[in-house]
Amino acid sequence: MNLKPATLSSIDEVITHYPSKRSATLPLLHLIQEDIGHIPEEAIPWIAGKLEIQPINVYEVVSFYPMFRRQPIGRRHIKVCRTLSCALMGGYKTCAAFEQEFNTHRGEVSPDGEVTIDFVECLASCGTAPVVLIDDDLHEKVDATKVKQLSEQIKKEKAERLKS
Ligand code: FES
Repeated sequence: MNLKPATLSSIDEVITHYPSKRSATLPLLHLIQEDIGHIPEEAIPWIAGKLEIQPINVYEVVSFYPMFRRQPIGRRHIKVCRTLSCALMGGYKTCAAFEQEFNTHRGEVSPDGEVTIDFVECLASCGTAPVVLIDDDLHEKVDATKVKQLSEQIKKEKAERLKS
């Protein structure tokens, strides 16, 4: 498994929080998805090995919870908060504007492979709603104008990457 060192150490630490290793299945899946954006096939036997359980036990959890993504996401991950403050301040419109910019729908990969847009729950910045997380960067008060600016930035970075 190609995980960041920080994820690997969080995984080792999380396992110690549970009297039975098996109980760490959900937290491990969350940590892996946070790191690489989805749960690849190889993660299932890997987690099973870590927790000393059968791969089928991990597979059952992955397939039960719809929040676990089995396919890779786009290069950039745009997460739009949809919890109350952000919803009241236009989070749904913000999400729709990003979908339009990248010609995609929530949960899918844009046709150029560049972005995946998702709704997420409260990002702990309710006072500056609507809030958007792009990869690891938080953006506040993301209205239509800011969607445009952020989208242009992403497109510009893509063009520069393709040039180099
Ligand atoms: S409701 Fe969106 S950051 Fe809290």
